[in-house]
Amino acid sequence: MFECFKRHGLSVDLIGSSETNVTVSLDPSENLVNTDVLARLSEDLSKLCRVKVILPCTAITLVGRGMRSLLHKLSEVWAMFGRERVHLISQSSNDLNLTFVVDEAAADGMLPRLHAALIDSGAMPVYEDQVFGPRWREINGTVRPRGTPWWQGSLEREHLLALAVQGTPRYVYNLPTVRERARQLAAIDAVDRRYYAIKANAHPAILGTLVEEGFGLECVSLGELGRVFEVLPDLSPERVLFTPSFAPISEYAAAFARGVTVTVDNVELLRRWPEVFLGRTLWLRIDLGHGDGHHKKVNTGGMASKFGLSAQRVEEFVDVARALDVRISGVHAHLGSGIETSEHWKQVVDELAGFARRIGSVEFLDIGGGLPIPYSDDDEPFDLVAWAEGLAEIKAVHPAFKLAIEPGRFLVAEAGVLLTHATQVIEKDGVLRVGLDAGMNALIRPALYDAWHDIINLSRLGAPCDGEFEVVGPICESSDVFGQRVKLPAATAPGDVMILADAGAYGMAMANTYNLRALPAEDALE
Ligand code: LLP
Repeated sequence: MFECFKRHGLSVDLIGSSETNVTVSLDPSENLVNTDVLARLSEDLSKLCRVKVILPCTAITLVGRGMRSLLHKLSEVWAMFGRERVHLISQSSNDLNLTFVVDEAAADGMLPRLHAALIDSGAMPVYEDQVFGPRWREINGTVRPRGTPWWQGSLEREHLLALAVQGTPRYVYNLPTVRERARQLAAIDAVDRRYYAIKANAHPAILGTLVEEGFGLECVSLGELGRVFEVLPDLSPERVLFTPSFAPISEYAAAFARGVTVTVDNVELLRRWPEVFLGRTLWLRIDLGHGDGHHKKVNTGGMASKFGLSAQRVEEFVDVARALDVRISGVHAHLGSGIETSEHWKQVVDELAGFARRIGSVEFLDIGGGLPIPYSDDDEPFDLVAWAEGLAEIKAVHPAFKLAIEPGRFLVAEAGVLLTHATQVIEKDGVLRVGLDAGMNALIRPALYDAWHDIINLSRLGAPCDGEFEVVGPICESSDVFGQRVKLPAATAPGDVMILADAGAYGMAMANTYNLRALPAEDALE
């Protein structure tokens, strides 16, 4: 039988055999993919046996020392394979790996679950740093470290502990951090106009600080517009952008009446309510056909997204606008939130400039927000230098246009913490849990996006983190978990003041009163 493989120049990769059948795997070499070698091999083999070709498959290999002696700890891993069609299992004689061949379609979904099961299996050393070595960029010294968070300062810590006495859960914002981020962005010459997306955090002190730093404000609802003019009654409407999505037409009319810049993202609006748009100047939001972001729920570009005018319909929009004497003075694209690649915005400028040139009346290219922040030690701070260089380069290619940005997260995330108290510490079936008086109602990002926020025991700051806890809230939902395997001092006890870090963006803004738990309090510190 193996003669047949040899005749066709194919080398067998894995073999499994039993009394009645022999299963082999072949690597998808060019030969195999691009010729009819498989058909010819099958024909040859069919003289000896019944042939079944299973395509496409993926081999998943568990790699580790002494696999055989660990099998009893891998029951969850075996169970996972038990739910799939496994075509072949092969163990290497050197006891270093165990390979499962499954349908290719199943493999992608299995990998993260397998990793989780392996890490939980007890077959690995307890601490991740003993399992996973440093990253390549750490070894060659090119990782940009996260800065020291503001709350580590001794004065700030004292202040937070004092505020905790007034009641928790409580969001606390450090305005100097907001100012520092604002100045980092203001120093970028290629950007002509900066707006702050107030949906990230509409606390009055934050709005005031950012307006003082020269930022305009970007709003998505009449409620947000109302907040802006209530807090800053003297703010010129020219510094305010309104970027609604599927909002009632009354909100567009009210925004025009206020004199703010309105961004429109579909033709149907103009057709259905021409009287609202007649003779107006507005910005046009375009879906450039691709999106990005830290989670699929914050990706706002591409076919599956509800945002933006399809690029195929820009000409149609321009025609309808012309008929209504509507002037398009800006084009806009915000394609996601928490985008790690700095080239993203360079591409957006380039693509928007193409549309702007065809439209003719455009002055501003608004490239949205979406700048990321480092939420964990594995993340690096956003490379603002590379971002600025990219923007300067592409702006030089399109000198006719001014650039606008509208970040939210970048300006406020690191400035905010959610201050809480530990409520109970409980052991259950080998898992230690610490409960907080803040739950997914106070900070929904972990439950909604599997987001990570560092969790720190502020009462015991500086003590070694020699314990491992699952950190949970008081809400009656199993998704009310802030983190698993969180390293905290083993002595963590009820009454300790704990913080959830980097919660200044989309924290309070998305808080709710589920389970009739009160909204968190808020303080802003100078
Ligand atoms: N401009 C528009 C039109 C937007 O929709 C957004 C955010 C921004 C600007 C600001 O994006 P940023 O710079 O903050 O990434 N709740 C999610 C984020 C949702 C973002 C929604 N739109 C989270 O907690 O990650």
